[in-house]
Amino acid sequence: MTLKGKSFLTLKDFTKEEIEVLINLAKDLKDKKEKGITGESLKGKNIAFIFEKPSTRTRCAFAVACNDEKAYHEYLGINDIQLGHKESIEDTARVLGGMFDGIVFRGFLQENALKLAKYSKVPVFNALTDDFHPTQVLADMLTIKEHYQKLEGINFVYIGDGRNNMANSLMIGCSKLGLNFKIIAPKNLHPHENLVSLCKDYAKQSGGSVVLSTNIDDVKNADVIYTDVWCSMGENENDFDKIRLLKPYQVNKSLLDKAEKNAIVMHCLPAVKESEITEDVFEAHAKTIFNQSSNRMHTIKALMVAMLGDEDLSKYKG
Ligand code: CP
Ligand code: NVA
Repeated sequence: MTLKGKSFLTLKDFTKEEIEVLINLAKDLKDKKEKGITGESLKGKNIAFIFEKPSTRTRCAFAVACNDEKAYHEYLGINDIQLGHKESIEDTARVLGGMFDGIVFRGFLQENALKLAKYSKVPVFNALTDDFHPTQVLADMLTIKEHYQKLEGINFVYIGDGRNNMANSLMIGCSKLGLNFKIIAPKNLHPHENLVSLCKDYAKQSGGSVVLSTNIDDVKNADVIYTDVWCSMGENENDFDKIRLLKPYQVNKSLLDKAEKNAIVMHCLPAVKESEITEDVFEAHAKTIFNQSSNRMHTIKALMVAMLGDEDLSKYKG
């Protein structure tokens, strides 16, 4: 199996087996790093980082992963480059494709990630767009696997803004990997029906399921309770109508009382305490949440090693 030369734009483009290989490779790289072992899989590679939106975890995860595997990276903040001012995405892509081996892109439009890949002809890593955040899902799946030693059959509940980039990407990832995925959200914040229908098809193949609910009592039986901010980057943070709508969907002690007592709580971070999650619940589950954030680096490293390195991936199957 090879993923060399492929872009990572959305998990829709990857099979169950390929996603599992990336998670297993990440676990191997993590075990090695914990023993102080890093590699040279990306030696001689140059990676451009275009960030139209701010980032702590994703930017640092890509930077540390590049450093560990001996790649060079160049950070291109949106105010540092011509893109968005006088240069088009197509021209920027062709310029960067002529100099770099890969491009990390965090931005608004998913369409721009696709254009970057098309015109640069080098692998593009989606570091978050308005629609998808696929690298986060790899880290989340590694975190769940470390906790439960499996992914198939895990009851995963996402509660909050059910139509943002995290909800979309988690629904794709869970349905591909055979988890039972449920979104609990106000009806008008449910994910787009086309994506739900696609994910229901994935779930049929993987043995998982996709369920939409508006009722917080449906959190019962959850092994994982996941939430994200109510107002994503680029949205109005003072959208009080949306905040009021989401208030009953806060992850707090009374919600956890309705769930299995061993359920873990996850958050991609950054968290707005006392909005989508209360401080006490956050702190009680901080070990899992910060394992998720460290796993960003190991999974992102696995991605770049798989897409840009010469590693034989077949040994990471199963
Ligand atoms: N979870 C995540 O993507 O965090 P950053 O926005 O800090 O990169
Ligand atoms: N939905 C959030 C995810 C942050 C990692 C946002 O887009 O701001």
